[in-house]
Amino acid sequence: MPFREAFDCLWCGRAHRTRSGEDLEGWAGLCPDCVGRAADNGFLRFRLRTALQERSRASGGLSARSDSASAPAAALIDPARASASESALDDPDAAMKVYYAARAREYDAVYRQGGGGTGGSVLDLWFQRELDEITGWLDQVPLRGEIVELAAGTGWWSPLLAQKGELSIYDITAEPLDIARGRLLAHGLRAHIHVRDAWQEPDRQVDGVFCGFWLSHVPRARLGNFLALVARWLRKDGLFAFLDERAGTAGADPEADPETGMTVRRLDDGREFRIPKVYYAPDELEEALREAGFGRCEVRQTERYFLMGTAVR
Ligand SMILES: C[S@@+](CC[C@H](N)C(=O)[O-])C[C@H]1O[C@@H](n2cnc3c(N)ncnc32)[C@H](O)[C@@H]1O
Repeated sequence: MPFREAFDCLWCGRAHRTRSGEDLEGWAGLCPDCVGRAADNGFLRFRLRTALQERSRASGGLSARSDSASAPAAALIDPARASASESALDDPDAAMKVYYAARAREYDAVYRQGGGGTGGSVLDLWFQRELDEITGWLDQVPLRGEIVELAAGTGWWSPLLAQKGELSIYDITAEPLDIARGRLLAHGLRAHIHVRDAWQEPDRQVDGVFCGFWLSHVPRARLGNFLALVARWLRKDGLFAFLDERAGTAGADPEADPETGMTVRRLDDGREFRIPKVYYAPDELEEALREAGFGRCEVRQTERYFLMGTAVR
């Protein structure tokens, strides 16, 4: 991650401005308070260790700094501590956060490269055709007024949503949101953009909630809780809309285990992350939506790749 002079802390979301390009906080994307808490938290330790390496690389490999922020981080280069921090990524929430932050720059390739992967050009064309189909579907979904997009990532869907109402986009890390900000600017559109956990309790009620490719990262055991949280975001008659991947066809992740609802994702640097990946069936989602208090639940799938749905509170 490049050095940032000013940022919202990756962990607590608080805005912070560094004093100089040497500040470890700016390399870690963490505020001083969260840097101070690193000894007790695997994700913070991981960020600090990476930040130390990146700062050291940027300064030509020099290390052994003595500023106060580096004190808790110094222990991170100790291999025993390092493996302890990596094992914290056994926590699926932390793994999702680190994995998607690291992938932010390459994430949009999933939309551009098509559905082939190993399948070849016909599947790629099919994927693009269905991508057009779900874009057209979302375009006609009657979201309006105040709209919240949870786990918005790089904001692929945000320009479309921002044309429908007053949009707030949230994600657990700043990296994808930076890309979303650029995308909205390129379209001459505006949104409120903040680091925020999708599991955080709503701070207000809004007219619409949208989630793109997020429900499949909600473990089955937590689906009811998440949908109930979406219901709490919505005013009466508010609309929930979502897009996701569908089960059982060419696009499905071959490593996703239907028994555990987990998959393994790898980064180019070899790091592996076990994260939730559940391919929900339309009737399972409709039932869970009804149980969470939604009405007029409609979930359907495209032929090969996608699933889309709406429900009214
Ligand atoms: C599969 S991507 C979907 C991105 C975007 N919604 C889309 O449709 O292209 C999942 C996103 O969830 C974000 N994420 C992971 N854990 C989160 C959490 N607890 N709260 C909010 N966002 C989270 C990741 O940073 C990533 O951007």
